[in-house]
Amino acid sequence: MAAKVLVTGCNGLLGTELVNALSAEYDVTGIDLREVDIVDPVVVRSFMQQTRPEIVTHAAAYTDVDGCESNRDLAMSVNGDGTKNVAMACREIGAKLIYFSTDYVFNGKKDSAYLETDKPNPVTIYGQSKLAGERAIADTTDNFVIMRIAWLYGAHGKNFVKTMLRLGQAQIEAKQAGKMTDPLKVVNDQIGNPTWTADIARQIELLIGSDVTGLFHATSEGECSWYEMTRQLFRLRSMDVDLLPCKTEEFPRPAPRPARSSLENQRLKQLDLNRMRPWAEALEEFLRKVEDV
Ligand SMILES: NC(=O)c1ccc[n+]([C@@H]2O[C@H](COP(=O)([O-])OP(=O)(O)OC[C@H]3O[C@@H](n4cnc5c(N)ncnc54)[C@H](OP(=O)(O)O)[C@@H]3O)[C@@H](O)[C@H]2O)c1
Repeated sequence: MAAKVLVTGCNGLLGTELVNALSAEYDVTGIDLREVDIVDPVVVRSFMQQTRPEIVTHAAAYTDVDGCESNRDLAMSVNGDGTKNVAMACREIGAKLIYFSTDYVFNGKKDSAYLETDKPNPVTIYGQSKLAGERAIADTTDNFVIMRIAWLYGAHGKNFVKTMLRLGQAQIEAKQAGKMTDPLKVVNDQIGNPTWTADIARQIELLIGSDVTGLFHATSEGECSWYEMTRQLFRLRSMDVDLLPCKTEEFPRPAPRPARSSLENQRLKQLDLNRMRPWAEALEEFLRKVEDV
């Protein structure tokens, strides 16, 4: 019989992808805030006792990076305490826990990509709360994978690729209608690894099938700025958009953004388990396969 997999945050950007991808091979149940609020330990425990998944992929989180700055208690309670609740329930029923953490556990000041052995030092409440989740897991169970991911895009939910395609298309239509348009400005001084959610799902499938545990970085290979990614996106879609690089300070946000938060998938490579591919290759396939983006 197929193993039972629970996906928390199943209506989100990553959770939707995980449910779709893992359902081919596993007996998958998805839950989101409406079914189970992870902040409530009693609800989490009783749901897990009843359903008894063997693997829990925990994608539920409070992910609004700027919102976290003004809602610290909510961020810590969902991303820290909520994750602790999930970890305790997993330990009780003997389930393996796969948790998604973030490049934002780092301050972005290193001059090369971060390794799993680098010390986290988050500069945002979001990053602190996700790190609290990591620590809660490591304090609760041995049967876990913490996977640090970054700069996600995909077919579901709001994300950067969809926003840029919408803004680019709007500019093209305005120009065609003879209207004056401003160039689209995108920051060129934040560097990271754009990663397609489908690639994370593939990587997870491989890890579920192995018996590895512990901390992993898992992002697309290679790094770029948001501007470089956008330029590549418009090139791949043959969209003639006026695009300009700009600096982060032109778009002040409540949460500071790490300048270079690239991750190196060192442990996956050491164990010969790295399935992640170059970011531009993944972006090209995403645009080819997901036509209605
Ligand atoms: N997106 C990225 O670029 C990125 C980068 C690094 C790491 N990650 C991590 O990857 C995971 C998935 O991210 P994502 O972008 O897919 O997030 P997302 O689209 O925001 O989805 C998160 C889901 O969690 C749900 N949720 C929020 N609070 C909850 C609660 N108290 N109980 C149960 N469910 C709750 C949300 O429901 P509502 O919508 O109803 O609030 C939402 O459906 C997260 O752990 C995130 O920290 C994401």
